Amino acid sequence: MENLISLVNKIQRACTALGDHGESSALPTLWDSLPAIAVVGGQSSGKSSVLESVVGKDFLPRGSGIVTRRPLVLQLHKSDEGTREYAEFLHLPRKRFTDFAAVRKEIQDETDRETGRSKQISTVPIHLSIYSPNVVNLTLIDLPGLTKVAVDGQPESIVHDIENMVRSYIEKPNCIILAISPANQDIATSDAIKISREVDPTGERTIGVLTKIDLMDKGTDAVDMLEGRAYRLKFPWIGVVNRSQADINKNVDMIAARRREREYFNSTPEYKHLANRMGSEHLAKMLSKHLETVIKSKIPGIQSLISKTINEIETELSRLGKPVAADAGGKLYAIMEICRSFDQIFKDHLDGVRPGGDKI
Ligand code: GDP
Ligand code: NA
Ligand code: MG
Repeated sequence: MENLISLVNKIQRACTALGDHGESSALPTLWDSLPAIAVVGGQSSGKSSVLESVVGKDFLPRGSGIVTRRPLVLQLHKSDEGTREYAEFLHLPRKRFTDFAAVRKEIQDETDRETGRSKQISTVPIHLSIYSPNVVNLTLIDLPGLTKVAVDGQPESIVHDIENMVRSYIEKPNCIILAISPANQDIATSDAIKISREVDPTGERTIGVLTKIDLMDKGTDAVDMLEGRAYRLKFPWIGVVNRSQADINKNVDMIAARRREREYFNSTPEYKHLANRMGSEHLAKMLSKHLETVIKSKIPGIQSLISKTINEIETELSRLGKPVAADAGGKLYAIMEICRSFDQIFKDHLDGVRPGGDKI
């Protein structure tokens, strides 16, 4: 059976390929109903670093200040062992990137194209797919960091604009929130916790990640946080040690960074007993497993939306008549075909679960 997450990835891509989803009203609903994981937190809390280590590749712009200025919708597709890894942007459909430094540059350039070279932000997402035998199937969304004040040249409204943008992603009930808090700051001041508590008060779709454990003051540790005593969420907290700015400047690679992170948890007396559920690799596996569980529970609802989409597209195609307006008709037709094949796969997969019996 094909992996459920990669199936959902394909539907998401099909929906996105229609651009503003203008052609069918069922598509935005379908897109919104598909679970995804959004990364939230304060500026420089380590969001992009966490995302990179989950992916196991260096490809994101990182650093101090506001670096992430547009949402990045990142789809990871696990490909067959031995095949070459590559990345592809939705806005450059026929270009395969095998050099991940070029991926980073394209993210920067594409951000500037939309926002100018200033420190402005834009709500228009960049869509990136990575195909690799070394990734787990996941859809992740990197978001601009929450901030307290506008800096050079930014409009005063930027603080609220970022907050509203982040909220628009994480308030959807199907969004899994990866809430990033730096361990070297008081958790009571965590922007990630503040905003996720607002939209998910019971913490049932929030996964807490504690970064910068290596930067805590001497004599303090994160054990109370990591064991859930300081701030309780439904899921266990996960601690990570990402690369420092000095590591980034020295080009410390991902493999070395992950090895060092493992060693850190294994060899620090305070964390030894937690080591098997700490670190980026554990986080990646846990996220993929969790996403799969969430998708499974939502199949009936997704399936009924897919049927609705097929119906709508059929109506739209017959309205357009023949010959259909080449481009719109072609895209719609392609989406309908994808929806039909999903419909069949879900039917096979369900085998006994009544479609429509579950609400999304
Ligand atoms: P973002 O703004 O939340 O996306 O944060 P970035 O991922 O860009 O990281 C901001 C800065 O913090 C960078 O210089 C990173 O090297 C550094 N950083 C992030 N996580 C850690 C960590 O766990 N340990 C250390 N020492 N530095 C980190
Ligand atoms: Na940053
Ligand atoms: Mg970032």
